[in-house]
Amino acid sequence: MPQPSDDWHGLIGQPVDHIDTPAAVVDLDAMERNLQRMAAFAHRHGVRLRPHAKMHKSAELARQQMAAGAVGVCVQKASEAQALWAGGVHNIFISNQVLAAEKLERLRTLSDAMAAQDGQLALAVDSALGVHRLARAFADAPAALDVFVELDVGQGRCGVSDAATALALAQQVAAAPGLRFAGVQAYHGAAQHLRSSHERAAAVQQAVAFVVQTRAVLTQAQLPPPLVTGAGTGSFALEAASGVYGELQAGSYLFMDADYARNQVGTDEPQFEQALFIKAAVMSRGPKHAVCDAGHKSHAIDSGLPTVWGQALQCVACSDEHTTLRGAALPALGDTVWLVPGHCDPTVNLHDTLIGVRGGLVRGQVERLIAVDARGALR
Ligand SMILES: Cc1ncc(COP(=O)(O)O)c(C=O)c1O
Repeated sequence: MPQPSDDWHGLIGQPVDHIDTPAAVVDLDAMERNLQRMAAFAHRHGVRLRPHAKMHKSAELARQQMAAGAVGVCVQKASEAQALWAGGVHNIFISNQVLAAEKLERLRTLSDAMAAQDGQLALAVDSALGVHRLARAFADAPAALDVFVELDVGQGRCGVSDAATALALAQQVAAAPGLRFAGVQAYHGAAQHLRSSHERAAAVQQAVAFVVQTRAVLTQAQLPPPLVTGAGTGSFALEAASGVYGELQAGSYLFMDADYARNQVGTDEPQFEQALFIKAAVMSRGPKHAVCDAGHKSHAIDSGLPTVWGQALQCVACSDEHTTLRGAALPALGDTVWLVPGHCDPTVNLHDTLIGVRGGLVRGQVERLIAVDARGALR
């Protein structure tokens, strides 16, 4: 249940100083520069952009990305798709497997509703059972569901690991009334956080080789994949340059995080700025440390502890409601500290609202509140 202090509406137009802590704050200027840079990159390289909205879970931001040229968005979960559709997003690809009958029923209802308003839903699949269940759920659907066969191009997560299995699934999809074979998904999650561009290039090269081989097998069987989709913030320039991928799925670029900031980025690639922050305040001081009021319940540490923006401070420990800081010039009691979360996606999922600030973190003002519509949408 929202707490009284979560009613941020009175903040609109107020200086950044007035934002209570802890709070998730988006630097709108930085975010919009990121958004435009990625849109321009995709346009320049003649590839479609379908940003991953599992990162921000916001219908408003998805619509903003689409207004700047994205063809639609990706999500990972049926309930995320439902939340974004309810928020006016009409082109959604669930880049993930859905098997449970109850979820497929929801997807069928969603797909019918979307198709009735010229929207389009798509889904990934990596098993014969998955196609079989989809075929049954969509057998009499008024509009076909776009289905992508997922390849495991190196992460060892979802996806089939050989071209023959990909072909068998594509044939099964093509033979099912209510389903349309839309192409292959080839996302290399493990490549994203390899630190050197060199290592990432080698990983994506292997992914591309597998895609090329699969495409040849499918084409020979009269089922050329209409689209190859994949890529993330750490590798999208490589997939775009491959000439094989027609669509990029990067998501984190919009907000960035401390983990992605550690990637070495080539000078010919767009640079993205940190746009998501946790505003925190110092609540306790020791002789050699300061403690601020944002911990695990405000930011995710699965990819490492946060960093501190604009101050020579290190986060050395986090607990549920606290982060401990060390540094030569420690902040005073009550001072503001801007944390850069280690990982943006699970951090956003901890908040109902992101506070959008215009004009910077020091002298800016609150411009708008961004609802995290699909917060907690895990099913
Ligand atoms: C299938 C898929 N595509 C794209 C992405 C986007 O990656 P990133 O947020 O790192 O840009 C992810 C992220 O995990 C993903 O799982």
